[in-house]
Amino acid sequence: MGMPPLASGPHGPDALRPLLDTVLDALRTGTAARGGPLPAGGPDAVAARIADAAGEILPHRGDPEALRTLVTALAEGAADPALPLCAAHLHAPPLAVAAAADLAASILNPSLDSWDQAPAASALEALVTRALAHETGATDALVTTGGTESNQLAVLLARETHGAGLRLVHGANAHHSLPRAAWLLGLPEPVVVPAPAGTLDPAALDEALTQVPGPHLVAATAGTTDAGLIDPLPEIADRCTAHDARLHIDAAYGAGLLFSDRHRPKLAGLQAAHTVALDLHKLGWQPIPAGLLTVTDTDDLAALHHRADYLNPDDDTDAGLPDLLARSPRTSRRPDILKTAVTLKTLGRAGLGALVDAVCTLAQDFAGLVEAHPDFDLHTPPTTSTVLFRPTHATDATVAAVRRTLLTTGHAVLGRARADGRLWLKTTLLNPHTHPDDLAELLTLVQSSLEGHTPR
Ligand SMILES: Cc1ncc(COP(=O)(O)O)c(C=O)c1O
Repeated sequence: MGMPPLASGPHGPDALRPLLDTVLDALRTGTAARGGPLPAGGPDAVAARIADAAGEILPHRGDPEALRTLVTALAEGAADPALPLCAAHLHAPPLAVAAAADLAASILNPSLDSWDQAPAASALEALVTRALAHETGATDALVTTGGTESNQLAVLLARETHGAGLRLVHGANAHHSLPRAAWLLGLPEPVVVPAPAGTLDPAALDEALTQVPGPHLVAATAGTTDAGLIDPLPEIADRCTAHDARLHIDAAYGAGLLFSDRHRPKLAGLQAAHTVALDLHKLGWQPIPAGLLTVTDTDDLAALHHRADYLNPDDDTDAGLPDLLARSPRTSRRPDILKTAVTLKTLGRAGLGALVDAVCTLAQDFAGLVEAHPDFDLHTPPTTSTVLFRPTHATDATVAAVRRTLLTTGHAVLGRARADGRLWLKTTLLNPHTHPDDLAELLTLVQSSLEGHTPR
């Protein structure tokens, strides 16, 4: 093998074209071989097939067929959210146009830690982050790897403003990354406010803010992981104002509703937050990662200021070269904004809003099917695109076993959530191409799997 060709530069496109054909063929072959939403056989069978395809990981002599072999194996063994019965998590099927744009990002490989590695990408990032920040009522936004990093940064910015005695106060419904951020940043144990109906209770929040000494960072959720519910944001914002508490809203899931005229009103109160986490790899159909943290007071960003002479020396900054190091705690950083920019411009607000409307309607449809079915219970009518349901008379152990059976047979990928002291099956509907018939099939599959687990 000669010197392998590079992806970018004048010869990059010629080198890539046949490789892209190989990738696309392999994706088609692997997807056809899988035949369903995930591979059958469970972890051992999948691991054995991957080990077989991978062979020697670092052979002495390279294998020119490695691209075809490994992409085929990965596609064959994928849980593919583009298939309607893969609907467990906040794991969206990426749009083709976004994936195509992401390919260009991989090829050009700009790194957003200094202007001289990313002249155009940094300019594009500045435009798109500001535009998306304005959508939430904020001023600026940082690009992150997702809700986890956004929540960590929100806690970090709050700590830098209020000091290490900062007390994080979050609902029992909050994402696990919030208490983990407090742990990571050396803050005191967070205060957990009850969320008996799945959303943070404002009266209980008031009580906590009264009882526990501050300073406080309150974290509310718009689009809970388990049920897609939205905390009562205006009431929470009022309590924060009354107690002089800082407010972060984890809208990693729910912020996508902003694109829809029909669903945007559910996010009233979002603009009151100091920071908002927003993930476009959830209700935004981007390849992972596509996270943002919007910030209302740009003075907060001074906390991230950092000098590394090889990247942002003072004289470069004084001479007008943008200082990118203050935009993230990471150093090398992908231009994740390109795929987002391409998506926003290709689909427009109307196009994205239609996708949001489609998945929210699917959730309503599925909830309707569950409710009308004599053998299933619906947890609550959906607020976003998540539906929790369970077989009426099943034990928690049976619900768990049904989910695992659907996984290991390769028939469906469903999530699980504990609510009201019981275990529920969770569908997170993020595939706008799903048809109501697919939802009926899902219910039938659960029912027949249940029959295999019901003691006679
Ligand atoms: C409400 C909420 N916040 C944060 C996250 C974390 O997002 P990520 O996995 O992108 O880090 C999730 C993930 O599902 C979530 O549901």
